[in-house]
Amino acid sequence: MSFPKGFLWGGSISAAQIEGGWNEGGKSPVLVDYCTAGSAKERRQIWYLDQEGKKVHKDWEAVDELPEGCKFQLFDDLHYTNHVASDFYHRYKEDIALLAEMGYTTFNTSISWARIYPHGIKGGVNQEGVEFYRSVFEECRKYGMDPVITLYKYDEPVSLLEQHGGWRNRAMIDEFVEFARVCFTEYKDLVNKWMTFNEINIIMPLNDTPKDKAKRDLAYLHNQLVAAARATIVAHEIDKDLKVGAMICGNMNYPLTPDPKDAFAQYKRFQDFFGYSADTQIRGEYPPYAKRIWEEWNFTPEITEQDKKDLKEGKADFLGFSYYASGVITTHNEEQLDITGGNILGSVKNPYLEANAWGWQIDPLGFKHFLHILNDRYQVPLFDVENGIGLIETEGEDGICHDSARIDYHRRHIQCMKEAVEEGVNLFGYTTWGCIDLVSAGTGQMDKKYGFIYVDMDDQGNGDLHRSRKDSFYWYKKVIASNGEDLD
Ligand code: BG6
Repeated sequence: MSFPKGFLWGGSISAAQIEGGWNEGGKSPVLVDYCTAGSAKERRQIWYLDQEGKKVHKDWEAVDELPEGCKFQLFDDLHYTNHVASDFYHRYKEDIALLAEMGYTTFNTSISWARIYPHGIKGGVNQEGVEFYRSVFEECRKYGMDPVITLYKYDEPVSLLEQHGGWRNRAMIDEFVEFARVCFTEYKDLVNKWMTFNEINIIMPLNDTPKDKAKRDLAYLHNQLVAAARATIVAHEIDKDLKVGAMICGNMNYPLTPDPKDAFAQYKRFQDFFGYSADTQIRGEYPPYAKRIWEEWNFTPEITEQDKKDLKEGKADFLGFSYYASGVITTHNEEQLDITGGNILGSVKNPYLEANAWGWQIDPLGFKHFLHILNDRYQVPLFDVENGIGLIETEGEDGICHDSARIDYHRRHIQCMKEAVEEGVNLFGYTTWGCIDLVSAGTGQMDKKYGFIYVDMDDQGNGDLHRSRKDSFYWYKKVIASNGEDLD
């Protein structure tokens, strides 16, 4: 056997991308509730009223707080894909039964902060939200799944952002730790593996980030790193057996040429985008090169003695990460080069790789390489939280979605993951991204499908939300039943 006995197999989704029920059960709005869908070429947009009361929109990543005098607003003529999403809020029992049918031994989703504390500490806990997740986790346990749960996946209540002005304000640390405390206390008997912030590193300033924004983002990230560490300490106080992991957005890049400048730029990208957050969370202090990053952005961090102590004491127990695609880095003139898409970051095109319609470059060997890098560098248990491919799909005339491209993607990635494990990589689980079709985070689309379970819904809101098993459903079931031995 290549994979150890008890290796966790499953899938990953997130509250805001799958639940819908956006204003039900006492939940308050989150940022994506104000967003519409983009396309393969366009990011999704967030809509609001500007200072003069005019309807305006922006790329949603650009907005972590509104400019002074602007106001979030819903507009009747727009379609908001997250409002209904895949309707997991009402159909979770049916969905979890399907996951169980595939043989899942684990399942990752996030808890919507806006269901637990719709208006932050001062508004009090929303018991209906607490009971909703209790029921979700009980359902997982009923089928023998050992869930790994994420606390924060970009869905803090908008009312908290309005109260505190966003993550630059240290008040958000206390808000988060309190939210985490409620979750650990309520669910400790159902969930013993947690992750604090999903892809905490995606806010990291790079290249052309405006200087002012970069400083804000580094302060924002510092507060999240401290919040994660404090929540980890709290979890261990509540129950020393709870395991709390970090979750970092994967970043595998190659230098475009053998020019040492390209090779160094590629290494620097790893330090900046991945290492800065992962090193801090796994080793309990900022890495030495953080100083170089702060100087580059002319940023003076405000790190208290208590922060240092908490970062040390609240080190993550394991390293979760996502891996979808690889990229290419160069110092040479990018304007003359073909650029392609990618998860969060675009990239120079790699002539050796194919890509999906969104330009994400498919690279299974890069996955193996990346697993080795993480294993060598961190020497803590690893957990692959997200791996998957977005495709445009519909059901065929026989009512089945024949997703051979997805099977091919996962087959090749699992094969490489298997080799890495055989070569000594300490990986304890694999969850594929978007095991049930859901709303894309980057583009807000329902048309960009990731699941083994098809959900009948498109970008414009057409569809009756029925579920059906894709070809990949049966394939992954076989993979799990054989503990990763049968990939045919
Ligand atoms: C990951 C995010 O980085 O990428 C997910 O954690 C997201 O939330 C996934 O859905 C795929 O990206 P996209 O933009 O295709 O949804």
